[in-house]
Amino acid sequence: MAEFQPVLTARWGDPEAATLHGYERTGGYQALRKALSMDPAAVIEEVKSSGLRGRGGAGFPTGTKWSFIPQDTGKPVYVVVNFDESEPGTFNNRELIERDPHQLVEGAIICAYAVRCRTAFVYCRGEFVWPGTVLERAIAEAYEAGYLGKDILGSGFDLDVILHRGAGAYICGEETALLESLEGFRGQPRLRPPFPAVEGLYRSPTVINNVETLSCVPHIIDRGARWFASIGAGKSTGPGIFSVSGKVNRPGNYEAPMGTTARELIEGHAGGVRDGKRVKAWTPGGSSTPLLTAEHLDVQMGFDEVQAAGSLLGTKAMIVLDERDCVVDAVLRFTQFYAHESCGKCTPCREGTWWMTRVLRRVEQGRGRMEDIDLMQTVGQNMLFKSFCALADGAVSPIDSSIKYFRDEYEEHVRLGRCPLREESPRLEAASARSGGTTGALAQVLPEGIEVELGEVLG
Ligand SMILES: Cc1cc2nc3c(=O)[nH]c(=O)nc-3n(C[C@H](O)[C@H](O)[C@H](O)COP(=O)(O)O)c2cc1C
Repeated sequence: MAEFQPVLTARWGDPEAATLHGYERTGGYQALRKALSMDPAAVIEEVKSSGLRGRGGAGFPTGTKWSFIPQDTGKPVYVVVNFDESEPGTFNNRELIERDPHQLVEGAIICAYAVRCRTAFVYCRGEFVWPGTVLERAIAEAYEAGYLGKDILGSGFDLDVILHRGAGAYICGEETALLESLEGFRGQPRLRPPFPAVEGLYRSPTVINNVETLSCVPHIIDRGARWFASIGAGKSTGPGIFSVSGKVNRPGNYEAPMGTTARELIEGHAGGVRDGKRVKAWTPGGSSTPLLTAEHLDVQMGFDEVQAAGSLLGTKAMIVLDERDCVVDAVLRFTQFYAHESCGKCTPCREGTWWMTRVLRRVEQGRGRMEDIDLMQTVGQNMLFKSFCALADGAVSPIDSSIKYFRDEYEEHVRLGRCPLREESPRLEAASARSGGTTGALAQVLPEGIEVELGEVLG
């Protein structure tokens, strides 16, 4: 097989890549010219045959999503770029925008042309102050050059792009919560169906795509669907950017064909585990995807392949834990994140993430009971597929998968009354030191049966 040449990151070494001049110098906006000479339906067909699947987590076929947009409703059609990127471990959208923003702008214009949209939005994560500025600059340059606005390149096609900055909420990456937020309401998910393709922004047909998904589009139009489909493995075509972090020597974003093995990404691209240690566990697609272990390193990073291994490809974000890491501690941190970010709309998610955190914390601190392990699984079962959106399912993933592979580590915490990977439990020690020994005193003043988390009392 021919050696893989970077596609999405090809311009990353070029200091001018973020400017219009640098982008055009390297073939930028040629795909748009080509697309504008095609029938919109033919553009959709090309994206369909490329096999491109959404990179935002669910892996839905992009061309198929575009083809769902009805054109006879009398309502406007909207395109929304999802640049909320908040899944722990995921950072490829940010770098794509910082280093090559026009690639996304061009992809979004082609998408808008294909679905006959006249107004597109980019929903930018609140914390992305600098990337948002880079993108704003690129959008302004595109207007000035006639790639946006009225009668784009003399084609008769008009498009406005509006960048909207969020306020920093994970839930606003979920497509229907994002739409609520964009409309000015509290970011909470909507019941589906109807799906956004039918009733999205302002109850109008709407396409929502991830930054990396749309960044693939100019290349598909430029080099053809067949070329794109020739990269990758099985039903996961094209290149992908894998975010690798945690205990690796070279954390970062690495572009590789979809279907590259986890081993190649962790041991090859990311330089292997630090200090010569071994992989203990890793997430294939951010912290909301079930953990896998060293046994799974030869799994191909494709949608179906990772699913067959018992997890999900998600956002292709690999957080690597090594043998020195406490899985219970890592899972507690993930769970605290989901409890904090649960929007509160659905009871199973709002209550479940809160209780999971509470039970996990006591196990991690050495105050757990053996029944707590089964209790967490029961709570998980009462959350799975019982909420408006997948936040709750994502919160259950790390707990369920870690109990599946590392149950003995949970049991050790209970048996020893501390983390087996540490001599003492530093959290309890530190908390006790800060409180000047109030732990015991506190127990005396509290009525029996009332349990107070040290963190809650000690701040
Ligand atoms: C809680 C939650 C958070 C999400 N956050 C993001 C996000 O930050 N970016 C993103 O592209 N998709 C996110 N998604 C997935 C979106 O709902 C949606 O599937 C995606 O934007 C569709 O784009 P794609 O087809 O190009 O993947 C999230 C989903 C859930 C349930």
